[in-house]
Amino acid sequence: MTTFVRNSWYAAAWVDEVGDAMVARRILGEPLVLFRSADEGIVALLDQCPHRLLPLSMGVVAEGRIQCGYHGIEFNGAGRCVRVPGQDMIPPTAKVRTFPVVERFGLVWVWMGDEEAADPALLPVVERYGAPGWALLDGGYQHHASNYRNIIENLMDPAHTTFVHKGTIGNPAATDEPVKVGKLDGGLVAYRWVENSPPSPFDRLVMEVTGSVDRGQFFYYYLPGTSCVDIISIPAGTEREDEVMDAKGMRAFSYKFLTPEDERNTHFFWLHLRNYRLEDEEWAAGLRANLDKTFLEDAVIVKAIQDEQDRTGLHQRTALAIDRAPVMALAMLDKMVREEGAAVAAE
Ligand code: FES
Repeated sequence: MTTFVRNSWYAAAWVDEVGDAMVARRILGEPLVLFRSADEGIVALLDQCPHRLLPLSMGVVAEGRIQCGYHGIEFNGAGRCVRVPGQDMIPPTAKVRTFPVVERFGLVWVWMGDEEAADPALLPVVERYGAPGWALLDGGYQHHASNYRNIIENLMDPAHTTFVHKGTIGNPAATDEPVKVGKLDGGLVAYRWVENSPPSPFDRLVMEVTGSVDRGQFFYYYLPGTSCVDIISIPAGTEREDEVMDAKGMRAFSYKFLTPEDERNTHFFWLHLRNYRLEDEEWAAGLRANLDKTFLEDAVIVKAIQDEQDRTGLHQRTALAIDRAPVMALAMLDKMVREEGAAVAAE
């Protein structure tokens, strides 16, 4: 049984990746090729020549058209064949499936389901994107050798950070603080406040704080594959309104967009917004390296789990209280997959 939701936008590539080059990427098990066409901008085509099924990504892009690397037939951005070397007649079947595409947040998003339902209003929301007073780190991509469900569990599970990320973001002080869980429209949030903590060296560096601080961690999950971690550090007792926390505290939004490659692999795109050290390029480079390292620490864990799931056919043998948010997230996802499957079957 598939674990995929088809009627959704999925991050397929960073816009910058699709320059003059093609990007070949398998999404929900289907091979796609993205390229910048002369007529339609960046497009996504099935990566398969209709002649002998050679991946089109083995050809070239010339003058905004993609040319098959076997016998040279050419396709435009709408997937229509516009030239067949050695013959004038273009067979009506010489066409390639296209997928709806939108560019947003520096990413190319593709819609893998019913084209009629491909509404850009359904794209994920990215808080503070482009807002004054916020700096953006984008361009993060990793390949994680695991089903995206294992990654969702990881992202909704703050308890692992102390143990998996000892050398990066792990915070022993938060280990015993219980996590609350709340349902949202189309998602879920797991969160906790750790109050009246002594300021860390990092807090002192970016916030000019002398007394104790309140730390908030909010782990959001939006169906089917968006995660956002909202990390807040404010002088203890500060009002917890968004505008006040943005102005008086240190805050960051860490987004991950999970795009299933297949049942055992996931494309992991990330971007990060922060309200501190806005102009400091050196700081930003260090932060980027630290985040990349942190997410690779998770990649090691979820791959090892996937391998063991494959070997045993099991998911887990016991349950803990910390599983609440991950279990709820996966139940919501399963429901979405089931409902989409039922809707297709009823057509
Ligand atoms: Fe593509 Fe023949 S396989 S043109």
